[in-house]
Amino acid sequence: MNRCEFIKSSLLVTAGLTLDPMGGLVMAADNQKWWQRTIVYQIYPKSFCDANGDGTGDLRGIISKLDYLASLGVEAIWLTPIYPSPMVDNGYDISDYTSIDPRYGSMADFDELIEKARVRNIRVVMDLVYNHSSDQHQWFLESKSDRKNPKSDWYIWRDAVDGHEPTNWRSIFGGSAWAWCEARQQYYLHTFAKEQPDLNWENPSVRRALFDAARFWLDKGVGGFRIDAIVYIKKPPQFVDGTPDGADGMINVHSMTANTAGILDFLREFKRECFAGRDIFTVGEANSVKPNELGDWIGENGVFDMLFEFSHLNLSVDGEVWCRPRAWKLTELKSALSASQEATATNGWYPIFFENHDQPRGVNHYFAKDADPIKAAKALATVLLTMRGTPFIFEGQELGMANASWTSIDQFDDIQTRGQYEFALKEGLTPEQALDCVQQFSRDNARIPIDWSKATMSNTVLNWYRDLIAFRAEHEELLSGTYVELMAKDEQVFAFERALGNKKLITLVNFSTAEAKLPKKIATLKIAISSELNPTAGVLRPLEARICRI
Ligand code: NOJ
Repeated sequence: MNRCEFIKSSLLVTAGLTLDPMGGLVMAADNQKWWQRTIVYQIYPKSFCDANGDGTGDLRGIISKLDYLASLGVEAIWLTPIYPSPMVDNGYDISDYTSIDPRYGSMADFDELIEKARVRNIRVVMDLVYNHSSDQHQWFLESKSDRKNPKSDWYIWRDAVDGHEPTNWRSIFGGSAWAWCEARQQYYLHTFAKEQPDLNWENPSVRRALFDAARFWLDKGVGGFRIDAIVYIKKPPQFVDGTPDGADGMINVHSMTANTAGILDFLREFKRECFAGRDIFTVGEANSVKPNELGDWIGENGVFDMLFEFSHLNLSVDGEVWCRPRAWKLTELKSALSASQEATATNGWYPIFFENHDQPRGVNHYFAKDADPIKAAKALATVLLTMRGTPFIFEGQELGMANASWTSIDQFDDIQTRGQYEFALKEGLTPEQALDCVQQFSRDNARIPIDWSKATMSNTVLNWYRDLIAFRAEHEELLSGTYVELMAKDEQVFAFERALGNKKLITLVNFSTAEAKLPKKIATLKIAISSELNPTAGVLRPLEARICRI
């Protein structure tokens, strides 16, 4: 497909139409929204593209890459936080919800980005970080100043119990989830870093202020929101100690507060006030919603359109404790992904993703150490772009970027990496072993600057992405068809069928570094596209990805 044909086919896809092989128009199977038919590209602005050469990516850098993104067929870009921030957690500690951090540019740059993206049919999606603010936010500065000020209960304050922290909860970044405030002689709760105090959603004024901020960005024309750490906004009625899960005598705060009953009342109000009736999408970061609750979250009357859930990411780590990695099998990965596909066949819509700014690179995470990184990147791309749902590409994934390599803990910038390193030492690991763990799981692996020299036509990973994206746009069954897993017990091959009426495609991806023999029924299918130049019927080469027609 040439560039012109590709643009034509992308426009048709957005309009809910595709062409059949004779060039006739085919309507989408059901009434899908624009965001169900597109590809979202996640940008971590700090490392994406530095236009002014100050060492940090910026909004003008993003503007300069819009043509590249449009040529990939991307119709939405999700920007991780670009608001003013002391950057304790790289922007997830926000000190002003309605401004732009000068490191990234100005509000005029942002408006220009929205407009230049719009003319290329790309919408800008913002990150809402509403469980907590920065401790430098004016709201917190007021709240902590004394117990009588008007914002006194905008955050979660508690008295000491027997002279120490109210509970034994460990924050997600390590250490107690409570920090002491001299002025108030009280502790405040922080699910993440102590510089990220949790907001008190029980207070209607807090909710009103947060909703106003979301509407500020909607009025600017943003195309939706990714909503951060949302499962923590409702706290339990009583704060009690939990059974320790580590040598430090503490328990991860997640086990005590995530997805507390009553959270949906807040979220329904959030939806009613900010999202309902708008042509936008919302995707919540919610890793502890149970399959039987999905309907309330993303069903027809759910609070969001999509939910990021982590079951496939968490196979390799025990509850975010990086020093307790576990060996996992391909069948576990397949069944986690298939369970999400099945759950969203009837409830809402699935955001397909393998990478983001919190995860190691996919080629390192999902494949053996000796796997060829280019082949592995193509294999993962094939699953990403042919499952049912909206694919989210994380910056650089399409260029085949892999983890960085680190030789000392001092090289890491990420607060969670440092916390995990300390935790590993407390658990009795040697410094070398602790470094090994953070090497494997550090969020900085995904946050190093994009190597744009890789974005040339000789990059075979990028070409494979382009081929697959074009293939996806031409096949309605990949956009709106059903999903059925095949060869579920196989430990080498991930296989599934996508079908719409009598149109059927089968994706076959060999995750292993050995050849995989295909069962007879599948071996004889016609190969539509393969990551190998000369694919052989009946056998998948190591890491080969292929799509067959029935
Ligand atoms: C999830 C975000 O993706 C992560 O980067 C951040 O550190 C935490 N939430 C806290 O906001």
